[in-house]
Amino acid sequence: MKNSPILIIGKNGKTGARVNQRLQALGYATRAVSRSTTPSFDWENPATWAAAIKGTRRAYVTYQPDLAVPNAEAAIKAFVQVACENGLEHIVLLSGRGEEGAQRAEKILQESGISWNIVRCNWFCQNFSESFMLEGILAGELVLPAADTVEPFVDADDIADVVVATLTQPGHQNKLYELSGPRALNFAQCIEEISEALGRPVKYTTVPVDDYIEILREQGVPEDLQWLLRELFTVVFDGRNSNVARGVEEALKRPATDFKTYVQKTIESGVWTAVEQRQTA
Ligand SMILES: NC(=O)c1ccc[n+]([C@@H]2O[C@H](COP(=O)([O-])OP(=O)(O)OC[C@H]3O[C@@H](n4cnc5c(N)ncnc54)[C@H](OP(=O)(O)O)[C@@H]3O)[C@@H](O)[C@H]2O)c1
Repeated sequence: MKNSPILIIGKNGKTGARVNQRLQALGYATRAVSRSTTPSFDWENPATWAAAIKGTRRAYVTYQPDLAVPNAEAAIKAFVQVACENGLEHIVLLSGRGEEGAQRAEKILQESGISWNIVRCNWFCQNFSESFMLEGILAGELVLPAADTVEPFVDADDIADVVVATLTQPGHQNKLYELSGPRALNFAQCIEEISEALGRPVKYTTVPVDDYIEILREQGVPEDLQWLLRELFTVVFDGRNSNVARGVEEALKRPATDFKTYVQKTIESGVWTAVEQRQTA
């Protein structure tokens, strides 16, 4: 088991990259894949799966674009079958809290007979710095169709620590960990904390979901992504995930990272100050 590389599906993703970096730092060989790697792995093209899996026995699996999309359940079912046929013995699946499609995909893995872990997460803090919310923060105004619902955003570094523990340490087999941060905040509160720590005004504006989707359409965001964002903001973001989950403590015996700590380290990374550098250049 030690000699075969650990497969990571989602090489450059928010959690995949962190898991890869941690495993390599611990001395594990990894095979991190996505559409742009060799071998490549494309969720849309099952013909790419077997070659990526062959020779690996453990895997961290992140599905694209999201386990909430209608195709996800069938894709995970097919993937688990190919995985078993090609020698995988343990799969750690990244999942989302409160998503019916995601919970159906989890069940497929749990009932497959292969050794498993589910890492079921709240929204990531890193959506503010490594994803679709970054542009708004750089521009000084984040516009979203969400008002008062609070979310205990989870730090992707915590997710990666839990995933690495499940892949490398005994005692985690066949466990589901629900991960959140320690404090639930609404978007306005998140932006207030970011703005205050940055020392620069950033505004939060809430709009009706139809107006938001129209903005995405005008920006040329693909239709399947528009569907996903509508689903996330109207169905999943209704308060069902507002309670704090304890998976970080359960898996790692340490507290989850607070949003303030995430904000501080993101400021240190410089990603939110790129705009000032652009303006003064
Ligand atoms: N973001 C959240 O708040 C959140 C919360 C809970 C759960 N999740 C789950 O996390 C997973 C990852 O979501 P994320 O938004 O954070 O993305 P991400 O991990 O940041 O992943 C982005 C990467 O996915 C790769 N990719 C895109 N399409 C692909 C495809 N068809 N096949 C293989 N790789 C593909 C891209 O690399 P290439 O261009 O090289 O392919 C890209 O670098 C999803 O399953 C989602 O359900 C996310």
